[in-house]
Amino acid sequence: MQRALDFDKTPALGVPLPFLLNVPLFALLAGVLAAWAGPQAFASRWNGAALALTHLWTLGILGSAMMGALLQILAVACNVPVNAARATAGLAHALLTAGTLLLAVGFLGWWPAAWIGAVALLAPAFALYLSAVTLALWRYRRQVYKGAREILVPVRGALIALACAVLIGAILALSLGLGWALPDRVDAHVLWGLAGWGGLLLMGMSFQLLPIFQLTELYPKPLTRWLPLLIPGLLLAWTALDASSGLPRLMRETAELLLTGAYTLWAGVTLRLLWTRKRPQPEATTLFWYAGMLSLLACAPVWIWMTHGPSPRAGLVLGVLMIVGVLGSVVNGMLYKIVPFLLWKHAQDAVIVPDRNPAQARVYLKVLPKMAAYIGERPARWQWAAHVAVVLCWALAAAGWTPAARAAGPLLVMSAAGLAWNIGGALRLYRETLRAMAALPHHGTTSRPAGRSGSIG
Ligand code: HEM
Repeated sequence: MQRALDFDKTPALGVPLPFLLNVPLFALLAGVLAAWAGPQAFASRWNGAALALTHLWTLGILGSAMMGALLQILAVACNVPVNAARATAGLAHALLTAGTLLLAVGFLGWWPAAWIGAVALLAPAFALYLSAVTLALWRYRRQVYKGAREILVPVRGALIALACAVLIGAILALSLGLGWALPDRVDAHVLWGLAGWGGLLLMGMSFQLLPIFQLTELYPKPLTRWLPLLIPGLLLAWTALDASSGLPRLMRETAELLLTGAYTLWAGVTLRLLWTRKRPQPEATTLFWYAGMLSLLACAPVWIWMTHGPSPRAGLVLGVLMIVGVLGSVVNGMLYKIVPFLLWKHAQDAVIVPDRNPAQARVYLKVLPKMAAYIGERPARWQWAAHVAVVLCWALAAAGWTPAARAAGPLLVMSAAGLAWNIGGALRLYRETLRAMAALPHHGTTSRPAGRSGSIG
């Protein structure tokens, strides 16, 4: 497996950044909605506010971040750049953002026209994104970096799962909007969305990014080889069993048990790798990975509770653990790596040194902040603590504890505001750096300073 990234393949800032900026904005919106709805939002899976919150999380926060980050990672880690990336990303981002807001409004007001409108925006958003990425994977299939082939297996699985989740979601929304009476496929929608798209993408990223950024050992080869094949296989088996009537429930539960086992194994191995990594001091991103993987371990007993207990609360708790605990933690932590990297890289690319003049290069390098300067470790750790409080509070709220349901919204607003503040600070520093460089003498003539490409000090 390769342990390097080709930073020169980084796409334009306008490609991933708008998707990543959706994260704090939709988190703030979800916090305000949860605060407004109060305990009602956690009363049942089928409550309008609960479904609106679910999609602000899954599409606005997680989906946006994962779609933006994937465009970046495919380019730098796999040598798979998406063609016309700016236009494709711009349009997909606009449709996704508007469609998610409309879907949430539809759930809140139980309003058929909004569901139909949301499908009209979200279906082209995902069709555009998925076809652009699929085309790039096909076009550059022979140029893929040798060590990156292993992560492309889970990435392809994740993209297929995303297509399935969106297709089923669109059919569900249309059947609600147009009053069709179709068989209930909500569980399949949730499983393909969370265990397929979310889980497989995270797994693929962990294989590549944890050894590089957290200095962990490599994942065991049999695990990287077989888990990304086993999981889609189990999802297919589960779907076939779910669709066939008359089969004992035990068969579907066996597929769920194996799926839970596969993800528990990955979480256990990831925790061990993080624990034994070579860098002794954990960064904020490491802490977010710990929070995500511990939440994933907690899913197994909750799944047993859901399968063998009569409580309708178990499904809600499992949903919160997967969405807010597992995917929410890793996505939030990833922002603390990817946003400073993008800003640092693009500030560096803006440096143009006349005639490779070393004295001039030294002047520019003094102005360029290091990557670590964009977001400080302390504020990132504070926001991590707020996020952990959100995970615990939302899980307790889902379990039916009313004081937690009251605190859930305000806590999320606090955590999201912390994230927005940290990212906003990084953007401010980037703008000031560009301004300071523009004010330097001789800016904007010939070549870049030598020997800076690829260093992330
Ligand atoms: C790919 C990311 C998505 C994920 C992870 C996701 C996840 C979920 C979850 C967790 C639920 C709640 C089910 C429950 O409480 O058990 C749900 C329900 C639902 N989703 Fe999604 N969703 C996604 C995308 C979409 C899209 C794109 C649409 C529509 C275009 C959609 C439409 C729906 C509808 C209509 C329901 C409610 C069904 C009902 O009440 O009968 N979802 N989704």
